[in-house]
Amino acid sequence: MLTDVESKLLIVDDLPENLMALDALVRGPLRTVHQATSADAALALMLEHEFALAILDVQMPGMNGFELAEMMRGTERTRHIPIIFVSAAGSELNYAFKGYESGAVDFLQKPLDGHVVISKVNVFVDLHRHRKALKHEMDALAAAHHQTEQLVQQLQTAQCELQRAVRMRDDFMSMVSHELRTPLNTLYLETQVRKLHLTKGNLAPFEPAKLPAMIERDQRQIQNMVRLIDDMLDVTRLRSGALSIQPKPFDLAAMAARVVDSLGQQVEAAGSTITLHAAGPVQGMWDEFRVEQVLTNLLTNALRYGGGKPVRVEVGVDVASAGFAGAAPQAFMTVRDGGMGIATADQERIFEQFERTADSKKHAAGLGLGLYITRQIVRAHGGEISVESQPGAGAVFRVTLPLEVAAAIS
Ligand SMILES: Nc1ncnc2c1ncn2[C@@H]1O[C@H](COP(=O)(O)OP(=O)(O)OP(=O)(O)O)[C@@H](O)[C@H]1O
Ligand SMILES: [Mg+2]
Repeated sequence: MLTDVESKLLIVDDLPENLMALDALVRGPLRTVHQATSADAALALMLEHEFALAILDVQMPGMNGFELAEMMRGTERTRHIPIIFVSAAGSELNYAFKGYESGAVDFLQKPLDGHVVISKVNVFVDLHRHRKALKHEMDALAAAHHQTEQLVQQLQTAQCELQRAVRMRDDFMSMVSHELRTPLNTLYLETQVRKLHLTKGNLAPFEPAKLPAMIERDQRQIQNMVRLIDDMLDVTRLRSGALSIQPKPFDLAAMAARVVDSLGQQVEAAGSTITLHAAGPVQGMWDEFRVEQVLTNLLTNALRYGGGKPVRVEVGVDVASAGFAGAAPQAFMTVRDGGMGIATADQERIFEQFERTADSKKHAAGLGLGLYITRQIVRAHGGEISVESQPGAGAVFRVTLPLEVAAAIS
């Protein structure tokens, strides 16, 4: 506030009685008056305080008022202090001090006329107050400007994130539609053909020997759609933190054998083979349905991106971790393929939602959700999943699971 600004005045004269008289004239509310009887003392005060005005006696022994003003001009801190020179001899004022940077220079003649002194001092004090208030406003303005800039930056970042999210959602929707359309189209075409046969009375395609294969085909398409919808539901559950696991004792090796068996048709379609290596049963407490999902996702990927080369699955207990004193033994599953592999730069991001490598997009359709869901399931069991791979040299995915899931995690 303009009215709150306190002003400091400096009066310099070698005669104490002059100082007293001047002090009495210029004193006032919200003003403090500092006195100096020499130029040296005045300079020392100027370095210590911020003055609104300096009233300098021109005739002083040692350094006179003009010389003191010259010194003030040489220092940044004192350069802008307005000056009123006080002199007894009118002629002296002809040497009117030149070149003082603030331009704020005035003169008073002895004997001092009280009214003139007061009005001149008031002008400078008001000027100082206005300048201070202005600076205060400028500082506030600069701070507000800085804040606005920060807000704009935050908004821009949020906008970019939003645009990316919208883009991802659009990509996702078009991928889902495409992925759902393929099995639906096949099913629809099948039904059309069957209808045609029936209208023409051609029952040959419906002979008992041909029916199991027909049903098998239909089931495959339906399963594809169910898997897709399940994946989407899982992602939604993961986002809301609602994916729960229900651990029960089972044998990981036996489960792996079942999963490998169930993939017979996909293995055939990929022109590949899967071999399972397990030295014996691997007993532990896990969510069987979810761990099956983990292995199925890894094997589906190995068949999809494995270039038809043999796939090797290994299940066992991690001897290395069991060997460490205090380290709890862990179960492990590895899935090794000899396909296109994954560049080091992609090896972390493929575990995120919708992330796929450029290479894989050319070869096969996919939503980029499998590994994301897989990692979340593994972590929910207190385990980890990692990948080792080089482009063109296949990939090895390794899952480790504590033999028993800590109660807190489940
Ligand atoms: N065995 C593998 N060899 C090479 N690349 C792989 C392999 N497994 C995964 N990837 C890469 O990681 C990406 C993400 O895999 P993820 O299983 O999450 O999704 P997806 O297979 O594309 O789709 P889906 O959601 O149907 O599983 C794949 O698109 C592929 O680029
Ligand atoms: Mg996948």
